[in-house]
Amino acid sequence: MKDILNADFVKGFVRLCDNGWKQGWHERNGGNLSYRVKSSEIEPLKGMLDHSGEWRDIGTEVPDLAGEYFLVTGSGRFMQNTALDPEANIALIELDEAGKNYRVCWGLRGGGVPTSELPTHLMNHQVKKAATNGKYRVIYHAHPANIIALTFVLPLKDEVFTRELWEMMTECPIVFPQGVGVVEWMVPGGREIAVESSKLMKKFDVIVWAHHGLFCSGEDFDLTFGLMHTVEKAAKILVKVRSMAPAKLQSMTSQNFRDLALAYNVDLDERFLDGADS
Ligand code: 13P
Ligand code: ZN
Repeated sequence: MKDILNADFVKGFVRLCDNGWKQGWHERNGGNLSYRVKSSEIEPLKGMLDHSGEWRDIGTEVPDLAGEYFLVTGSGRFMQNTALDPEANIALIELDEAGKNYRVCWGLRGGGVPTSELPTHLMNHQVKKAATNGKYRVIYHAHPANIIALTFVLPLKDEVFTRELWEMMTECPIVFPQGVGVVEWMVPGGREIAVESSKLMKKFDVIVWAHHGLFCSGEDFDLTFGLMHTVEKAAKILVKVRSMAPAKLQSMTSQNFRDLALAYNVDLDERFLDGADS
């Protein structure tokens, strides 16, 4: 199985898991990762895959992903163990021709199933594939402490989270110009939260799950990890600011954001600018 472990996308996947663990975003089995594998990446590995496994229900339907392969973390597996033993903790799965079932073709040595958030991962992949013409391939879920803390004190509104996080670092509106979507608390691990999340993923690359964590999507591992890192760093600054004083003495203004958008050629939704100066 050395060739699978040496594939660049597997190495990049494992590196992200390890980096997320080092950031403290993955207590116990918290968080999960999935990657939509390119056909050019899967072709050379096909001889090493096991196609005899049983088909299992995804728990939702993703017809636009039919027949595709995904590298995913295992349910209950610890991110900290991924780099130590990738074959035991992650899996390559194949979807059937209806996009309703999957089977494990490699990995999860000794048994196990893909992450319990597979419905959310795959429904997010489906909307991102369509929205980006196939460019986006990574969906990443983590439990960073500062963004979770904010879901107890900020109104659970896209406009509020977006504006507050944008104000914390000048680079934020450039890194996530569409802003941040917020899902109110829901039971994790099923179709319902997957449907709500994928609705927001049509507009946003970043989604907050109240009192739970964050989902980020991106083109590759570096950009997706960098997005998670930037959002959580902005959240950390906001927690510090709110801990130091009841209100900000000064901050970036709506005009500052408009100037930034012009200089960096990004579109910022006026919804996050109008009347939001504090
Ligand atoms: P899994 O171990 O099933 O991936 O679940 C972890 C998690 O973060 C659920 O939201
Ligand atoms: Zn979680």
